[in-house]
Amino acid sequence: MTRVIISGCNGRMGRNVSRICGENDDMAVVAGVDLYGVALDAYPVFTEFAKVDVPADVVIDFSNAAALEAILDYCVKNRLPVVLCTTGYSDEQLELIKETSKVIPIFRSFNMSIGINLLTDLIKKAVSVLGDGYDIEIVEKHHNKKKDAPSGTALALAESINHAMADAYSFVYDRSDRFEQRRPKEIGISAVRGGSIVGEHEVIFAGTDEVITFTHTAYSRAIFAKGAIAAAAFLSRQKKGLYNMQDVIA
Ligand SMILES: NC(=O)c1ccc[n+]([C@@H]2O[C@H](COP(=O)([O-])OP(=O)(O)OC[C@H]3O[C@@H](n4cnc5c(N)ncnc54)[C@H](O)[C@@H]3O)[C@@H](O)[C@H]2O)c1
Repeated sequence: MTRVIISGCNGRMGRNVSRICGENDDMAVVAGVDLYGVALDAYPVFTEFAKVDVPADVVIDFSNAAALEAILDYCVKNRLPVVLCTTGYSDEQLELIKETSKVIPIFRSFNMSIGINLLTDLIKKAVSVLGDGYDIEIVEKHHNKKKDAPSGTALALAESINHAMADAYSFVYDRSDRFEQRRPKEIGISAVRGGSIVGEHEVIFAGTDEVITFTHTAYSRAIFAKGAIAAAAFLSRQKKGLYNMQDVIA
């Protein structure tokens, strides 16, 4: 039985993790942490990590980037592995995650869905076949409550394309201040926000006489919660280090 603390337990994703853990005989949620410290299930909810006094095996975080330092502090003190699913971290925070993974096991993925991780592999293959003769644009769509833009997934997709192109590409988020043709070696990234869209990512390779488009659509947040729970089960068996979804799939 893996004992889980859910950080951001009262949010949309936290509720999904809570529900799916409840359906899983190998997982038990023993506590939650949320700014709005209201207990909605059978486990206690604390308003901050410093107050948590319940033994656990792993933390799953779907809260806010601002919570990172407190989560890592708690996990280091208690030698607990942590699955970081929150997006919108600064470069300094990403560096802190890397440094802290020298002490405890940390899992971080820009997107917890297995489908998106497959999409990443497919676009790397597309880049190796198509070369630089195609203009690449990424369009992501999310619900109107999402605060960060572009999504962590869109950025990670762009980074993996750029990496496959020997880091020769630059990212363009806004063309409104330009009055010029599209330059080669650019990856355009656009964000759409509206309604209750769970998450859509489209990677477009636009050539002279053809367009190739890869699309991933998430219809329910449950796919991210299931991925986070699989990652937690995996991480609770690992030594210190930084892990991602490719490690879980492998
Ligand atoms: N990696 C992925 O696959 C993936 C998928 C979905 C969402 N996310 C990310 O997960 C995060 C949460 O998403 P959501 O849709 O559940 O958001 P949400 O706003 O519905 O829930 C966030 C919860 O965290 C709590 N919270 C905020 N700041 C906190 C803090 N400092 N300490 C403790 N609790 C705090 C809020 O009270 C809220 O209940 C976002 O960053 C989102 O982008 C990642």
